[in-house]
Amino acid sequence: MSDFEDEMDIDSSAKGAAMQFSSNNTNSKGKKLVADLPIGAEDNLPWVEKYRPSSLDDVQGHQDILATINRFVDSHVSTPTSSTVRPPGTGKTTTILALARRIYGSKNMRQMVLELNASDDRGIDVVREQIKTFASTKQIFSVAPSSTTNGANSLGAFKLIILDEADAMTATAQMALRRIMEKYTANTRFCIIANYTHKLSPALLSRCTRFRFSPLKEGDIRALVDKVIEAESVRIQPDAVESLVRLSKGDMRRALNVLQACHTSSLPLPMRNAPKDQPPPEHELVTEETIYNCIAAPHPSDIRQIMTTLLSTSDVTSCLNTINTLKSNKGLALADILSALSEQLQTLEVPAQTRISWLEGLAEIEWRLSGGGSEVVQTGGLVGVVRNGCELMGDKGVAMES
Ligand SMILES: Nc1ncnc2c1ncn2[C@@H]1O[C@H](COP(=O)(O)OP(=O)(O)OP(=O)(O)O)[C@@H](O)[C@H]1O
Ligand SMILES: [Mg+2]
Repeated sequence: MSDFEDEMDIDSSAKGAAMQFSSNNTNSKGKKLVADLPIGAEDNLPWVEKYRPSSLDDVQGHQDILATINRFVDSHVSTPTSSTVRPPGTGKTTTILALARRIYGSKNMRQMVLELNASDDRGIDVVREQIKTFASTKQIFSVAPSSTTNGANSLGAFKLIILDEADAMTATAQMALRRIMEKYTANTRFCIIANYTHKLSPALLSRCTRFRFSPLKEGDIRALVDKVIEAESVRIQPDAVESLVRLSKGDMRRALNVLQACHTSSLPLPMRNAPKDQPPPEHELVTEETIYNCIAAPHPSDIRQIMTTLLSTSDVTSCLNTINTLKSNKGLALADILSALSEQLQTLEVPAQTRISWLEGLAEIEWRLSGGGSEVVQTGGLVGVVRNGCELMGDKGVAMES
């Protein structure tokens, strides 16, 4: 049926566009859509792609956004344009691709969807030529799957242009988009995905329905991580799963990448002269330590040691020695120590004056570090800031749990 429809796409420019923007077309700007991958290829895929949800039902979290999107589709309401803004790895691209698959079906996506992301040139020329051509041509027959086709009002009758990572588009290209978005509303819908709102033109934003994808909740990340652990038979300690979920800080991509890296590295190297009939080696158990090492995050016990030394030793040289020794032994970066230490310091019961001086001082060091400040000098600065706060407390000291 859909083959027939492909043939019957009588709009000649649309057909040209379909060829040009086909997701199967290797020399086009369109991208290969993940769900169409052959089964064999999936075995070697990174887990983030292998477990990328292909339907909206499989997307974890974002219940409100998904409910709204589903309502749009079910009631055939076509929101003029939508833009999704938020942190990486939270499912923006996944959601919109799943939505497109739901509206058009996997088969028709290549002809109805134009997906452009940061790897494509999206300057003014592309907006003027490719996007405009695709948007301006009309699909005469709706290609929506029969379940969603419901008269002329069906969303399947609209073409969809997905502009992923749109915050990287030039200002002039965004300007040029504004008129195109209005002019071709009759047959095209736009979806603009970005991480930073301030990099999108306000005029463009005002033409959109905005969805904010917040970092995923730990429960949502755990749900998918548990599924992958079971499917891939990963040998991992429950504590390690807990740390993995916490350290990924709402980024599902990070969680899956770290899990895969730890699982792969847990396979012992084959012995050189091992007999051939030996059974394949078993994966070692992934521990909390493995996870911390993989993420290169300081272990809580290291941070605790640094904190105890800083709070209890007035000798600045020995404080510095402790931090430097830990840094060189465990390969820790000051930026990671800084964020973990400030989290720990916030949990302490201290006078307001001390807390203020810690907050202010640590923020200042982070800013200097991000601007290229030297690690050695800023390590000294860190010791200075924490000790300064302690001196403000006088003899009172800090109560810490053992
Ligand atoms: N909500 C989610 N449910 C299930 N899997 C998810 C979710 N969010 C992210 N993932 C997983 O993380 C991977 C990356 O997600 P995605 O490409 O959608 O992120 P993104 O929000 O577009 O990030 P970026 O801003 O970096 O482009 C997906 O392949 C998927 O495996
Ligand atoms: Mg994305």
